[in-house]
Amino acid sequence: MRTKQLFFYPYFICTFLVMIYCVRVDSQNTLISEMDILEWEEVLPGVWKAKFGSMGLNPLDYASPPNHTALDALSHSDFPFNRDSTFSLLTSNRASIRLPLDSSEKIYGLGLEFEGINRRGNVYTLKVDHYGGIKGYTHAPVPFYISSKGYGVLINSAHRVKIHVGVGNRKDSKRPEVIDRTTGKNWAARPVSDAIEASVQGGGLEIFVFTGQSPLEVVQRYNLFCGGGVLPPKWGLGFWHRMHTKSSADDVLKEISDFKKYDFPLSVIGLEPGWQNFAYPCSYDWDENRFPDPEKFLNTLDKEGIKVNLWENPYVAPSSTMFNDIKPYTGSHTVWLGEVPDYTMIEAQRVMLNHHQKNHLDIGVSGYKFDELDGYDFWLWPDHATFPSGNDAVEIRQVYGVIMQKMLRDHFKSENKRTYGLVRSSYTGASNNSFVLYSDYYQHKGYVTALVNSSMAGVLWTPEIRSAKNAEEWVRRFQSVCFSPLTMLNAWSSGLKPWSFPEVTDIVRDNLKLRNQLLPYLYTAFFEYYRKGIPPFRAMVLEEGYVSQESIIGAELDDVVNPYAEKKRIEVTDQYMMGEAILVAPVFEGQKERSVVLPPGNYYDFYTGKYVGNGEIITVKTDLDHIPLFVKDGGIIPMLTSSSPSSSNDSLEVRHYGNRENRLLMYNDDGLSYNFEKGEFTLTELVVEEDKEGKLRGSYNVLNNDKFKPESVTWKWMTE
Ligand code: GAL
Repeated sequence: MRTKQLFFYPYFICTFLVMIYCVRVDSQNTLISEMDILEWEEVLPGVWKAKFGSMGLNPLDYASPPNHTALDALSHSDFPFNRDSTFSLLTSNRASIRLPLDSSEKIYGLGLEFEGINRRGNVYTLKVDHYGGIKGYTHAPVPFYISSKGYGVLINSAHRVKIHVGVGNRKDSKRPEVIDRTTGKNWAARPVSDAIEASVQGGGLEIFVFTGQSPLEVVQRYNLFCGGGVLPPKWGLGFWHRMHTKSSADDVLKEISDFKKYDFPLSVIGLEPGWQNFAYPCSYDWDENRFPDPEKFLNTLDKEGIKVNLWENPYVAPSSTMFNDIKPYTGSHTVWLGEVPDYTMIEAQRVMLNHHQKNHLDIGVSGYKFDELDGYDFWLWPDHATFPSGNDAVEIRQVYGVIMQKMLRDHFKSENKRTYGLVRSSYTGASNNSFVLYSDYYQHKGYVTALVNSSMAGVLWTPEIRSAKNAEEWVRRFQSVCFSPLTMLNAWSSGLKPWSFPEVTDIVRDNLKLRNQLLPYLYTAFFEYYRKGIPPFRAMVLEEGYVSQESIIGAELDDVVNPYAEKKRIEVTDQYMMGEAILVAPVFEGQKERSVVLPPGNYYDFYTGKYVGNGEIITVKTDLDHIPLFVKDGGIIPMLTSSSPSSSNDSLEVRHYGNRENRLLMYNDDGLSYNFEKGEFTLTELVVEEDKEGKLRGSYNVLNNDKFKPESVTWKWMTE
């Protein structure tokens, strides 16, 4: 008996130890109480930071410094969570966080997405990539989200962030009731969870929380933290025409004379790969046959007031004149057999900038289109590639776009010149960069959705036009791009011209001219982006009162009580705000009418000045000539009387909509340099007030120096 007991003793002890071990492992991986509570520090007013472990590349190193004055001017809100319910966990190969989420919260952001707006209930792997439908694989997968409750979170890492937005339940969290699928009515494939959880394959993370009184203020705070928004040169807001890739200097000159013949405005000519003597990989050297005298060519265009933008990708061809100099600073793998510069190294940046300054910028090139910085995995370098800086290949890929943007932005700034260009990769902290994103994906609706989402990612986006199946689609796409940060026909492959569909040439021209006439309004909107972080093109959910709007007059009763209809209203992605007062509602090919959700307040038709509604869903009949535009009550819209902007003082027609008194601070400067940062600009206050008889009157006051004041102002009362 005793022997038997002795025999079993070690057995029991072992079992007991295994049980303790299991509980320990289990608790390490699953118990919230075993995760570390994050420690938060207010680093700037309304900006809170927590960190744990160690970071690799820091994306914020490539952002502009915070705008302290503007951040100080924002309202104050308390830290949005109970700090004891924010957690971190570091395991052998992952750093993760868990932040609380209320059942009613909607989550926006997470970068440049082409579908939807509310990210709740999904999982995203935020990876710089070609857009192809995988959630989170996109040209600008910014790990920043905004809650409808009025706070934002930036997960600061150059690793790919995998984020579970209100899906996935820990066994020790507050979980909903478990339901039997066979008999239960409310069984859900994605049961509601009370948290956002995110992780990276890396040794640590920084997390920033941005507070605000509204989703817009959160976005402003994030943008201002990254230096505020960009103020493009005025020429950047005109019309861009990208030539067919095989075009020569003579083809460009012919095209320019056709622009005159057809009376189309033209601000920038874009040259696609064929300006180089080798492309994919790139030489960055002019092709002597197509462009025998680049300097003369650029001078000729300059005399016409036309800027030149050059396409390139970063992969260096062996035949390039900068190949030998950059070679020591390139990675282990090639892309299209070209070498990949390690632009995390200042030495590599210097080689590129010296070459480009000498061969392009010194003779008058205005900027670049940096293509293929994203690309599919089978094009770009593998995750295990090595780079001379020792930085990780995955991290380099994630921040490649923002590094190149910063490199160029700083270089142009050191020359006191503004640039504006295109890029196909962006990330955290990009709002102050002079680049606009674009894509090969070509769905018109998705393009408008991307424009909406770009406003919550600190990036700019162009729904560029390349081609169309018919004249109607041509017009509709042109109209959308006219109401975007960069108006461009990218004919690199189609070779099309704005007048390629003769039956609608007049309509296209009118739309382009309208865009140009709106320059003072748009430039002012960009100034607000720079100064206050307010995106010039904004999602409806950023509009005051939009998310919390309780009743929807005009909607079917069923819609009001039907949460699905409400979801559709809140999550509308086919309309957006442009500047302070204009609501843009693009039309897609085939739409004979469309519904428009109006935020609270009276709205008026842009073209006629007629009242259209207030806080309701309206249906508008479409006509091919116009993109539906609506203006807020009291909206003051300064417009040029001519459609070709001068560089300084302009004659303006100032339109007023509705019946409200109002004021607009209109901005103007030289449109070219950074002298505005030293105070060289003019703010003109446009004032609409009632006179003694109760009639609206317009006047204006120049508030500071009058160097860029309007030459003349004519008031137009749109709503009599
Ligand atoms: C694509 C780019 C197009 C065009 C083309 C030239 O990657 O998206 O806009 O530039 O390259 O080869």
